[in-house]
Amino acid sequence: MGTSRLLSQIPDSYFGKTMGRKVEHGPLPLVNMAVGIPDGETPKVIVDEFINAIQKPENQKYGAFHGKSTFKQAIVDFYKRHYDVELDPEDEVCILYGTKNGLVSLPTCVVEPDENVLLPDPGYTDYLAGVLLARANPYPLELKPEHHYLPKWDEVNQDVLKNTTLIYLTYPNNPTGSVATTSFFDETIQRFKDTSTQIVHDFAYSAFGFDEKNPSILQSKDAKETAIEIYSLSKGYNMSGYRVGFAVGNKEMIAALKKYQTHTHAGMFGALQDASTLALNECDDFLNEQNEIFKERRTKFEAALNEVNIPFEPMKGGIFLWLKVPPKFDGESFVEYLLKEQSILVAPGIPFGENGKYHVRISLALDDEQLYEGAKRLQSLADLY
Ligand SMILES: Cc1ncc(COP(=O)(O)O)c(C=O)c1O
Repeated sequence: MGTSRLLSQIPDSYFGKTMGRKVEHGPLPLVNMAVGIPDGETPKVIVDEFINAIQKPENQKYGAFHGKSTFKQAIVDFYKRHYDVELDPEDEVCILYGTKNGLVSLPTCVVEPDENVLLPDPGYTDYLAGVLLARANPYPLELKPEHHYLPKWDEVNQDVLKNTTLIYLTYPNNPTGSVATTSFFDETIQRFKDTSTQIVHDFAYSAFGFDEKNPSILQSKDAKETAIEIYSLSKGYNMSGYRVGFAVGNKEMIAALKKYQTHTHAGMFGALQDASTLALNECDDFLNEQNEIFKERRTKFEAALNEVNIPFEPMKGGIFLWLKVPPKFDGESFVEYLLKEQSILVAPGIPFGENGKYHVRISLALDDEQLYEGAKRLQSLADLY
């Protein structure tokens, strides 16, 4: 009765449990550095388009299950403009009601029970539930600082790899702030293109690349033979509340996702598609501004840590800095310590995988004043290191 055995085996979502929870902290006012989305508002032009679109009768009814042609064309144009990647709007694009949705349903669509799926460790937490729901076997894909948090395919257990039918990658990486290179993507595609291993690249933080523009995996030769990329509007456009994104790339994987959707969704709200179309077509400047804001914050925050010799992983992209905890702590005890002594809230590293045990994730999604305050309080802990 009640919860199925399958669902019972799936651990509660860490961030589901903690989001919105009242935080107990020390006497100082709280500085919340655990937020997972940029702090700004959705650009007004997008909101205005949404308001207009709600009033259109065509958006009050069921629409085409797989999306409006205008939205799909905007996706195609966006990929051509930003990455010089050609896409077929019918066969190589699948719109998603939030990318979390697509990322979690993907294994059910493309993996058989008992096949292996590699999940980045450290990496985004929600992939795991998707693998378990598909009754597949999750394996950690070790990401190490000495390799800039890029996997080394030769170091993965080759027996595990043989039975691996899906690999998740995500760059810029949440939580480590590391980025991918074109040569890493090229090597990965060449390694897997003639095998039964498929790749999904989660590009949620695509807009945030501080030293160079983040490459799309689809720019690599032959990528569409084996890979899809999942693009979110949540972070770049400050649209996390709208729930919109899309998958692009390999036809077979896209067809599987679309088939699944025809049974679980009845299309995406037309007004949301219209607002997203405008975002993709007309807001490139906004993406650049977002990147500049976070780049500047990264530079200032890293300088503050450097000033007092607190060691950290260089932040190349995304919105998070990955901080090793001082000796005598693990991530969770350091989170408690920071709350009690400094009223700073950060995320422990452990929900992101075993390799996160001695790290915490610091979000830079807070205004300059708060960020400065957070940095100053952290500086006062330099003696712990
Ligand atoms: C790496 C990563 N992927 C995907 C998502 C899901 O984003 P959304 O469902 O809002 O597109 C998040 C959200 O925090 C994330 O950090």
